[in-house]
Amino acid sequence: MAGERKQVFVVLTDGQVRAYVNSCPHVGAPLEMEENRYLDLTGSEIICAVHAARFDLLTGDCTWGPCRGRRLTPVAITIADGMIVADNPPNLS
Ligand code: FES
Repeated sequence: MAGERKQVFVVLTDGQVRAYVNSCPHVGAPLEMEENRYLDLTGSEIICAVHAARFDLLTGDCTWGPCRGRRLTPVAITIADGMIVADNPPNLS
């Protein structure tokens, strides 16, 4: 939607950084169960707080739940001088 602001979150796993739009592909709800908490208890997957869908950290693919077969929206990033920069940022909030 034009003018809509989106939140992005970043995960670090196996020395790789990924960024995704904070929106579940099921119904578009924010994913985090509390501020800045996106991972399940084991830290091995991203989890949606609404219906508990699980997502692969590196691909954003839904591995379990009502949005299986879909994925999180990735945000291309570059790491420069210790900073993470979105290459083509969505309308960030
Ligand atoms: S809103 Fe995320 S699984 Fe339903």
